[in-house]
Amino acid sequence: MTETDATVAQLTLAEKASLTSGASFWYTKPIERIGIPAIMVTDGPHGLRKQAGSADHLGLGDSVPATCFPPAVGLGSSWDAALVRRVGEALGAETSIENVGVLLGPGVNIKRSPLCGRNFEYLSEDPIVAGVLGAAYVSGVQSQGVGTSLKHFAANNQENDRMRTSADIDPRPLREVYLRGFQRVVEEAQPWTVMCSYNRVNGVYASENPWLLTQVLRDEWGFEGLVVSDWGAVNERVAALVAGLDLEMPSSNGRTDAELVAAVEAGELGEKALDVAVGRVIDLVRKVTAGAGRIAGPLDVDAHHALAREAAGRSIVLLRNDDGILPLATDTSIAVIGAFATKPRYQGAGSSMINPTRLDNALDEIRAFATGNVVFSEGFSTALEVSADEAARLRSEAVDAASAASVAVLFLGLPARLESEGYDRDDIDLPADQGELVDAVLAAQPNTVVVLSNGGVVALPFADRVPAILEGWLLGQAGGGATADVLFGAVNPSGKLTETIPLRLRDTPAFLDFPGEFSHVRYGEGLFVGYRWYDARELEVAFPFGHGLSYTVFEYGDAAASVAADGDIEVRVRVTNAGPVAGREVVQVYASLPGSAVQRPVRELKAFASVELSAGESREVVLTVRRADLEYWDVRVDQWVVEGGAYTVDVAASSRDIRSSVVTDVVGDEVRVPLNRNSSLGEVLSDPVAGPLVQQALASMGDSMPGAEGIMPEGVSMDKMIQAFPIGRITMMAGDAVTPEMIDALLAAANSARP
Ligand code: BGC
Repeated sequence: MTETDATVAQLTLAEKASLTSGASFWYTKPIERIGIPAIMVTDGPHGLRKQAGSADHLGLGDSVPATCFPPAVGLGSSWDAALVRRVGEALGAETSIENVGVLLGPGVNIKRSPLCGRNFEYLSEDPIVAGVLGAAYVSGVQSQGVGTSLKHFAANNQENDRMRTSADIDPRPLREVYLRGFQRVVEEAQPWTVMCSYNRVNGVYASENPWLLTQVLRDEWGFEGLVVSDWGAVNERVAALVAGLDLEMPSSNGRTDAELVAAVEAGELGEKALDVAVGRVIDLVRKVTAGAGRIAGPLDVDAHHALAREAAGRSIVLLRNDDGILPLATDTSIAVIGAFATKPRYQGAGSSMINPTRLDNALDEIRAFATGNVVFSEGFSTALEVSADEAARLRSEAVDAASAASVAVLFLGLPARLESEGYDRDDIDLPADQGELVDAVLAAQPNTVVVLSNGGVVALPFADRVPAILEGWLLGQAGGGATADVLFGAVNPSGKLTETIPLRLRDTPAFLDFPGEFSHVRYGEGLFVGYRWYDARELEVAFPFGHGLSYTVFEYGDAAASVAADGDIEVRVRVTNAGPVAGREVVQVYASLPGSAVQRPVRELKAFASVELSAGESREVVLTVRRADLEYWDVRVDQWVVEGGAYTVDVAASSRDIRSSVVTDVVGDEVRVPLNRNSSLGEVLSDPVAGPLVQQALASMGDSMPGAEGIMPEGVSMDKMIQAFPIGRITMMAGDAVTPEMIDALLAAANSARP
């Protein structure tokens, strides 16, 4: 008997039930009688939101000050697992100092549509980016003796109707796109907990979905931790427990615990199933207790603010920089325009909102660098109602400031009310007055730099006209300093887009299927999410996935690829910093299989590396494409399969900037699909046992099949038509020569010879 089993055995039925739901908003229940303490879990993900007094859900009563690191939309743009891990370590330290057991993050849901109100909390439109960076976050946080909660499992890709809607997804996109990132994090980093999502997946609530919570998560991926519900995600408590939901949060005031007790007493729920969940709660409590006090306070506020600034600098993506307008010389006279320069938008609204230890603003930080004249003009108002006169007045002041300076730096973005947890956006546009402001400022000052603050992607209709654009996403509490670092070149930008910036909302993959209706959303675009869609349809985009410029120039040599003994592909490429300053390049590897037997995107990201190179430095970069990442989900056998063939491996600076390509042969997995009467002749012919026998029989029949003569166009063999013919129906064509019994015997022989 394990220690956990022994503890479970000491509990009464009521105590067991009580342990599997929260005591309050953030605490589990203690069982003092046998020394099981309560533990605290709290949001997450990009900072600690430990509410001091009475808890509220989204009301966000004051929480203990904590470092607000860049939310996932920013941090993810670093494409740097080592940096994400360091941020994770700092988050873990803050969690430990505050005596919290589990930090509720990371969020690794795929950005299916740019309209999702919570995209700022997610990492990417690509599962490899989300998985690799999510795993780095989990390892970093957990290295400090506290837990994480991988969320929101699964397919929570919109806020609209999130507590009910069913994400209706075919098996391949579900496995290859929506679950792949979760799988990577579980297999690589073993988060202490996984948080199930509110929504349904193919009709079944995530919270009571045995396929998701047990078969996939535990049996296939080997998850060893505890499954917690998203707050209020449990629909039916007994069904949830049976499906594999261990801990319901927050408290139900004992109501659903009583349901569990009643179900056991009525013989409807085996007590063993409850014991399993209780055991997992006890294991979690034990881990938390063992890790408690690992990091001694007080929090080093300065050190963590400095890390938040470094991370924010690495999150910024330089979208455009014509004629090297950036970086700015410190003695440039600058007009800083836009409300976000003084009142930063640095995080998204909802459960992840952190009470920062301090807050930089860009204007002050620009002034700290500048030796030239810096003037500020508000440019636009973020208020709900702004009269046309007021907007015109603000615009004209901005134009005056811009024309008097040598450069205008324009801070644009989404006002906080336009994106939040709990609801989606209606469009991807910046407010109209900001568009008018850009035009007016550009007319007066061609040297204009746009700095964007937005959690979800925005359309950039001015992208061709503005010489420099920095995508600043939401950068956390030190974003103002980081923006100044990049503007003046103290930091060389190295962020790249983890999501495509489209030209128009109607170009986006989910446009016709978002957010669904009557609590169902059909993922009609299938595998073609993000760049997979734009590439397949050859659509123009504003800026492609993986794009991001630097103040230096990187040159790529010829790539080489070879398959290692374990089946992974090792890719080597020489990258040279051919410019005047040190910088970082995110080297990306995409793969494709021309002529594949299954539907595939034009190319898919398989590996990436963030590489630091000093000016003039050249280095061979080695990346690994894991064999597991070449797999597609084969719906005939419900398994991951590597298709054999000559794969094209592209080494790239973005999904649309391929620098070198190489072809490498990969040996595939053997897939043997069980044969039945509906198997086509083609399928039967390619079976190693049945194939030769049928070949023989066909040869002996020759052209004697009634009606076979002269029906095919000249030059086309009868084989072409016959290949698609279900073998069971051959009997109708072959007269007495072939009986159903003969066919069944043949199929049985073939199937029984299967390995
Ligand atoms: C959110 C979770 C969060 C939880 C606790 C839910 O509404 O979806 O991400 O961790 O609340 O605040």
